[in-house]
Amino acid sequence: MPVVEPDQRHRNTNVIALANNKGGAGKSTITANLAGALAAKGHKVLVMDIDLSGDMRAAFGINDHPGNDEGESLVSSILSRDAAAPPPRIVTGIRPGIDWIPGGMQIWYLVVSAIRDEFPITTRFADVLAQVSGGYDYVLLDCPPSNPPLQEMVLAGSRWLIVPARPDPTNWDGLRKIGPVVKHVRQYYNPALSWLGVVIFGLPANASRITRISLDYLGAASGTVPVLDSTIRYQSAAALGSQMSGRLALEMATDRKTETAQVITALRNGQEVNTDRIPSSIDNLANDYMRLADEIVTRTQTAKVGAR
Ligand SMILES: Nc1ncnc2c1ncn2[C@@H]1O[C@H](COP(=O)(O)OP(=O)(O)OP(=O)(O)O)[C@@H](O)[C@H]1O
Ligand SMILES: [Mg+2]
Repeated sequence: MPVVEPDQRHRNTNVIALANNKGGAGKSTITANLAGALAAKGHKVLVMDIDLSGDMRAAFGINDHPGNDEGESLVSSILSRDAAAPPPRIVTGIRPGIDWIPGGMQIWYLVVSAIRDEFPITTRFADVLAQVSGGYDYVLLDCPPSNPPLQEMVLAGSRWLIVPARPDPTNWDGLRKIGPVVKHVRQYYNPALSWLGVVIFGLPANASRITRISLDYLGAASGTVPVLDSTIRYQSAAALGSQMSGRLALEMATDRKTETAQVITALRNGQEVNTDRIPSSIDNLANDYMRLADEIVTRTQTAKVGAR
C-alpha cells in the first residue's frame, strides 16, 4: 500500500467528488447544476467528467463540442509515466465561469490499467488534479456508478465528498458501501478526505411511507454520515425538459421568464400562444440548486477558516 505523502494533505482543497455506487442517484445532474449555481454566484468552476458515459456533455448540451475527446487527454495525463507530463486539456467557457475536462469511452483505459495493476492511477490522479485545480474556486468530479477502482482514484484526489441519494431503499446499499471506501482511502491515500454530506435527490412533495422510512434511515445514519440541509425535489417533467434540451435548471428558469413575457405579449395582441411551455416547477428546481450551492460554499469556507 502506498504511504500518504505529507504534502498531499494540503493539495486540491477545492475539489469535490460526487459519488455513490448506485446508478441514477443524481450524481451527474447535481454536478452540472451545482456547477451552474456556483458559477451564477460568481465562482470559477471546473467540471471533470470521470465517467465512461460522459454525461456532462448531455447535461450541458454540448454533445457536438469540438473539444470533446471522450476523456483521451485526461487519461493520457493520468497514465503518463513522466511526472512532468502536460496537464489534461481544459475546454474553457462551456458556460460563463465554467470549464470542462471531458470524460467518455477513453476512461475505460484507466479501468483496465487499474484491474491489471499496471499503473498507480490512484496516486497519480491526485498529482494530475493538482496541475489544474489551482485555477478554480471549485472543481467538481462526476463519478461513475459501481466502479471501485475509479471511485478510489477520485476520492484519493478529493478534499470533499458529496453523496447524492434518492430517498428509497435501493439507495441505502450504495450509502452503506461508500463508508468503508472512504475509510480505506483516508487510511491509505488521503487523510484530508471529508464528507460534505448526503444530498437527498428527487424528494417528492408528498412523502410516501417508503420515503419517510428512507428519510428516517438517513436520519439514523447521520451520526456517522452528515446529511445536507438542502434537498433536490422530485420534478420529473422539469428535469426531463432540462436534460432533453441540454440546459441547466437555472438556465431554463431564466428562459421561462422570457417565455412568460412573450406569452403575455401574444395574449394581449390576440395572437396564438405556444402551449408546449417550460413547466413552472423549474423555478423550484433552480432554487434548490442555488440553496445547495450556498450550503456547499458555507461548509467548505467554514472548514477553511477553521483550518487556519
Ligand atoms: N429533480 C429531479 N426529479 C426527478 N428526476 C430527476 C430530477 N433531476 C434529474 N432527474 C432524472 O434522474 C435520472 C438520473 O440522474 P443522473 O444521471 O444525474 O444520475 P447518476 O447518479 O449520474 O446516474 P449514473 O450512475 O448512471 O451516472 C435522470 O434520468 C434524470 O432525468
Ligand atoms: Mg452519472
